[in-house]
Amino acid sequence: MKETGLARKVLMPYPVLQANRLVKKFKHTVAVNSASFTVYEGEILGLLGPNGAGKTTLMALLLDLLTPTSGTVSIFGMELRKNREKILNQVNFSSTYIAMPLSLTVRENMVFFAMLYHVPDYEKRIGELLALCEIDHLTNCLTRELSTGQLSRLNLAKAMLNRPKILFLDEPTASLDPEMAQKVRDLLKNLRDTLRCTVIYTSHNMLEIEQISDRIIFLNRGEIIADGTPRQVMELYQKRNLEEVFLKVARGPGIQ
Ligand SMILES: Nc1ncnc2c1ncn2[C@@H]1O[C@H](COP(=O)(O)OP(=O)(O)OP(=O)(O)O)[C@@H](O)[C@H]1O
Ligand SMILES: [Mg+2]
Repeated sequence: MKETGLARKVLMPYPVLQANRLVKKFKHTVAVNSASFTVYEGEILGLLGPNGAGKTTLMALLLDLLTPTSGTVSIFGMELRKNREKILNQVNFSSTYIAMPLSLTVRENMVFFAMLYHVPDYEKRIGELLALCEIDHLTNCLTRELSTGQLSRLNLAKAMLNRPKILFLDEPTASLDPEMAQKVRDLLKNLRDTLRCTVIYTSHNMLEIEQISDRIIFLNRGEIIADGTPRQVMELYQKRNLEEVFLKVARGPGIQ
């Protein structure tokens, strides 16, 4: 049954992810500075902020790809670092910046990840996902021959192989043409509405974030400076849209 937006709102929110005072320090930088927040089931959460704000680092901490300097992450009520395998089996991520084996064909890459994730009936699933992401005509192409947008669609298809309960997407629409970007947005809303999949994603497209995010977290210099619905964040900064909020934050020292 397809859930309506209203049905989604009246269900009790179930917290699927909790970040607790997460800190990540690199040699000269505090990339994430004491980030605490909760993400609920079936929520599309947009992470936004200027270049270098800490979005990718935060996402890597939530996936245990990076070890936090301090702080903890709990997913599905379990501490991530202690239940890594159990949790990571139920989530997935896509980022164009994470390399896929380029000498494999599109299909071989999908089979490789399907086997890694123990996807049952994987041939059928791969066929469905390549069609869904509109790269089925590229099945036998070498991955190195794909355009940036095609590669990012392959990344997305790979990320859906294990039917994740939480999908982490780092700039999923950055290299897509407007029509394809719209299709990806529709797909994410559909995953949320039909499967109650939680989506945590980053984007520099403020209009997109405004349109599809149930909630946003605004990062600036590693700090969460706003956490709320797009409307709440616009009201906090007394701006009519997120683009204006962004420009105010990027130009100023913080909340003014
Ligand atoms: N491996 C690393 N070693 C040292 N510094 C790093 C490393 N990774 C990230 N940083 C620094 O941490 C800060 C946050 O970087 P991050 O990539 O998380 O930002 P971002 O918000 O994703 O930016 P963008 O919008 O450009 O993708 C930056 O100052 C960056 O230089
Ligand atoms: Mg980034």
